[in-house]
Amino acid sequence: MIDTAAPLASPSEYADAVATAVQAAAAYYADGATPLGDDEYDALLKAVAAYEDAHPDQVLPDSPTGKVAGGAALGDVPHSVPMLSLDNVFSAEELETWAAGLERRLGRPVTAWCVEPKLDGLAVAARYRAGRLHQLITRGDGLAGEDITHTADAVLGLPAELAEPLDLELRGEVLLTQDQFDHANRIRADHGATPFANPRNGAAGTLRAKDRPYRIELTFFAYDAVGPDDLAHSALLDRLAALGANTAATTAARPRPCEGVQEVQQRIDEIAALRAELPFGIDGVVVKADLAADRAEAGSGSRAPRWAVARKLAAQHKVTRLLGVEWNVGRTGIIAPRAVLEPVVIDGVTVTFATLHNPADIERRGLMIGDQVFVYRAGDVIPRVEAPVLDARTGAEQPIAFPEACPRCGDAVDSSEQRWRCVRGRNCQAVASVLYAAGRDQLDIEGLGGTRAVQLVEAGLVADLADLFTLTRDQLLTLERMGETSADNLIAALATARTQPLNRVFCALGIRGTGRTMSRRIVAHFGSMAAIRAADAETLAGVDGIGTEKARVVAAELADLAPLLDRLADLGVGTAVTVPTAPAAVAGESGTEGGTEGGEGEGAESDGGPLAGEAVVVTGSMTGALADLSRNQMNELIEQAGGKASSSVSKRTTLLVAGEKAGSKRAKAEELGIRILTPEEFAALVAAHLPA
Ligand code: IVH
Repeated sequence: MIDTAAPLASPSEYADAVATAVQAAAAYYADGATPLGDDEYDALLKAVAAYEDAHPDQVLPDSPTGKVAGGAALGDVPHSVPMLSLDNVFSAEELETWAAGLERRLGRPVTAWCVEPKLDGLAVAARYRAGRLHQLITRGDGLAGEDITHTADAVLGLPAELAEPLDLELRGEVLLTQDQFDHANRIRADHGATPFANPRNGAAGTLRAKDRPYRIELTFFAYDAVGPDDLAHSALLDRLAALGANTAATTAARPRPCEGVQEVQQRIDEIAALRAELPFGIDGVVVKADLAADRAEAGSGSRAPRWAVARKLAAQHKVTRLLGVEWNVGRTGIIAPRAVLEPVVIDGVTVTFATLHNPADIERRGLMIGDQVFVYRAGDVIPRVEAPVLDARTGAEQPIAFPEACPRCGDAVDSSEQRWRCVRGRNCQAVASVLYAAGRDQLDIEGLGGTRAVQLVEAGLVADLADLFTLTRDQLLTLERMGETSADNLIAALATARTQPLNRVFCALGIRGTGRTMSRRIVAHFGSMAAIRAADAETLAGVDGIGTEKARVVAAELADLAPLLDRLADLGVGTAVTVPTAPAAVAGESGTEGGTEGGEGEGAESDGGPLAGEAVVVTGSMTGALADLSRNQMNELIEQAGGKASSSVSKRTTLLVAGEKAGSKRAKAEELGIRILTPEEFAALVAAHLPA
């Protein structure tokens, strides 16, 4: 696909751009299935127009500039008065320039403006004879359109009969509201038809469809009429509503007369802010001179009136690639698919994930990995994938694999409902969190494996981490295949777990983004669970390696976990612990100062034990006094001795502990001239911190 934003540098680039635009316009006005997003199409047209301005002698006859519907749409019913398009502006500054131009032309200020939503559908003309709907026509090329009277009875808001027996032509937009769009896609799925990519495509396809075995309702909004010429535009809209036509006055983005460009800008901002909540799509805001006299004096060009302009808003639908699908298990055990996307900017926000609702929805939309997909994002709404661009398929797309087992606990999946669930429901989370907490790098509870965790949760004895520490021997003995020895062993293991250092208790909470290393850093920084709990996102961001985003997540999860933390504290878990001494003391001091950066780290290092200021990497197998220590325990030891543990050798590494069979890390350390110690030498250095 060509880069639609770049200026066109040569006749061949210009010709390519014209061909792409003509093709996109043809698809857009046929069934709406264009592979170009609205923003890209607009940018492409701008580039074509700029090239033509600079090279008027090279303008190609099929260029879409200056033509209604890019010259793509045709029909054979002549319009009574041409159905014009609108010129676009893309910023407040461009709007100001446009308004100044119009006022210069008039030689005076525009008396009043009317500001209204630009509805994202298709323009139609509805002809009434003696108040009865006689013919419905598409805009076509603006001079003649297609007769689509057969669809009129499915168009809500377009009365079969007006309140008065008038000869009149209503003009307006036909669209699918969000509800109508969702409903339409459900109906289409039931009939084995491919889903509409977005509401606009759905409206285009539906308006022109004949002989469908199902009915899809659309909605009409009137914004103009041929007949009453002398009314102000705002008064005309009131009149059309009184005659029975639906207008945008029924919506929060209702048309509003405004005085002066500043008020116009304000109303544009209001409508833009309302966009996400509107039950239908808008792709801009239309600004019109309100009074008939101003409009008559301004006149129209061949493509667009001079008295109106569309202030375009960024498109909410963008096309990008579906890279993969993740399956996440929610609190209640719902297994929800999430699309991983090639990053795409929609309305100023980079979108990398989007919801896919549920497996049935994925099937209904016929999505495949590698597809180009329409992604929709509006306001704070979670972005969602709407449909694949079928024309863009290359054959390399892969089917989406649905989970055969719960991705969290590995148990069976209940797929009897639309939304798939882990058969454990809420307990899935409990089993997974208990298992994680009992793991080797957390509380290291021997004898608490998958089967036991499931038993404990299913017997109702354990719903969270704190419950583990309330278990009694008698309770354990009620479990199947739990003999006295096993029960005693588990009780003993739980007693040991209670005394695990705070970094392991903290890690056992399973807070997102806080694995072993981060847990150690957080604990070293704050010194106690009470201090961690009291920390807000800003303070958390002071911990080495925590960015603002992660700090926010950790703070939010800590707030969620408050009841659990209370219970753990009551049970004495995570309170009677060995806190890494030196960093904790310094962190305590800095805590009262609001956690200033820089100096704090140095303070920790200057009087923080034998490894103060050292960045230590461990490689190879440990021997001697260190022989039984896992890597995690080695890292804990390093941090307790005031150093920083890391897993890879870099320029910042200051010390490598190299045991037997040390490989590439040793070679790299040698190359960088980093100090290398044997396990024995290292053990001697940190002797005071070695576990008893
Ligand atoms: S006025 C001569 N008002 O936008 C005046 N058009 O990009 C022509 N549209 O063809 C149109 N909302 O399909 C007008 N409130 C609104 C509109 C609106 C949507 C569409 C219409 C028009 C297209 C131009």
